[in-house]
Amino acid sequence: MKTPRSFYEPLAVGAPAPYQTLPVQLERMIHFVPPHNEKVRAKIPELATKVDVILGNLEDAIPADQKLAARKGFIAMAEATEFGDTGLWTRINSLDSPWMLEDVLEIVPAVGDKLDVIMVPKVNGPWDIHYLDQLLAQLEARHGLKKPILLHAILETAQGVENVSAIASASPRMHGMSLGPADLAASRGMKTTRVGGGHPLYRVLSDPDGSDAARSAYQQDLWHYTIARMVDACVAASIKAFYGPFGDFQDAEACEAQFQNAFLMGCAGAWSLHPSQIDIAKRVFSPEADEVDFAKKILDAMPDGSGAVMIDGKMQDDATWKQAKVIVDLAKAVAAKDPDQGARYGF
Ligand code: GLV
Ligand code: MG
Repeated sequence: MKTPRSFYEPLAVGAPAPYQTLPVQLERMIHFVPPHNEKVRAKIPELATKVDVILGNLEDAIPADQKLAARKGFIAMAEATEFGDTGLWTRINSLDSPWMLEDVLEIVPAVGDKLDVIMVPKVNGPWDIHYLDQLLAQLEARHGLKKPILLHAILETAQGVENVSAIASASPRMHGMSLGPADLAASRGMKTTRVGGGHPLYRVLSDPDGSDAARSAYQQDLWHYTIARMVDACVAASIKAFYGPFGDFQDAEACEAQFQNAFLMGCAGAWSLHPSQIDIAKRVFSPEADEVDFAKKILDAMPDGSGAVMIDGKMQDDATWKQAKVIVDLAKAVAAKDPDQGARYGF
């Protein structure tokens, strides 16, 4: 195990020092784009004003014969665009693929100074993070990068879930983690063909009551356990948890419900794979105005965050003060970045 001090040492002579705390960023949606598509690339500057993060996808969904075009396209879109405070991420190919090494070796020298986060698919354990950690430090040193490129793991293998805490705390380069329900379902041998969301057959039945009336069935959340495990592992390591993709673009309501569950359980954002999901994520991952009003009342009633008060018949104490602070801090971050949403909070 590394000693505490060496944990924060650069891994190569001349590489930038790792962050001790993560840069504060509003990341309600990680918006995926296919960078080999020229028409999509032409829209990136406009898109950058509408989303919190743009991610150039190089992995799954990019056909094998377009992998090199996607990599070149990502470099082109990174060079051509001023992203302002919108995050620029890429999802590289998996570590065992024929493309991953060149993804990193070409992208970091070309646009490493603009790249905030590399999303790493199919992470099985901390060893995957250690490998990239060292490689990135060497490249950062060679190319004179001033700030470290962060890593974001996709939690999408059964082995990854077994090792989730070790992955979360593998390196100060860790930004966060996203649940990848499609690959995880395949890896676990779950009997589904969906990308995220519920399943009508995953349910409990009400007890038989002796009558002939149909018993009520209650659909359960297939992802509850994994999201809870991921959130605890991430927050314990001071990094961020995200819900990943929702594949049924027609079913905005179910997408919203999935995002909402993730938000309530502690996730900071979700992926948007289709433009229609951008607004869903914006709405869901910005707190409700009446929740913010109530949270402000709690903070105002307990200026030093201690003691106990009653507000609207509900008991408040140090713990609810902390809950309120989470909501008010998020609302402030939303108001600073997104005046449309922020106007609802009256700061
Ligand atoms: C995402 O990559 C997934 O597999 O769900
Ligand atoms: Mg996947």
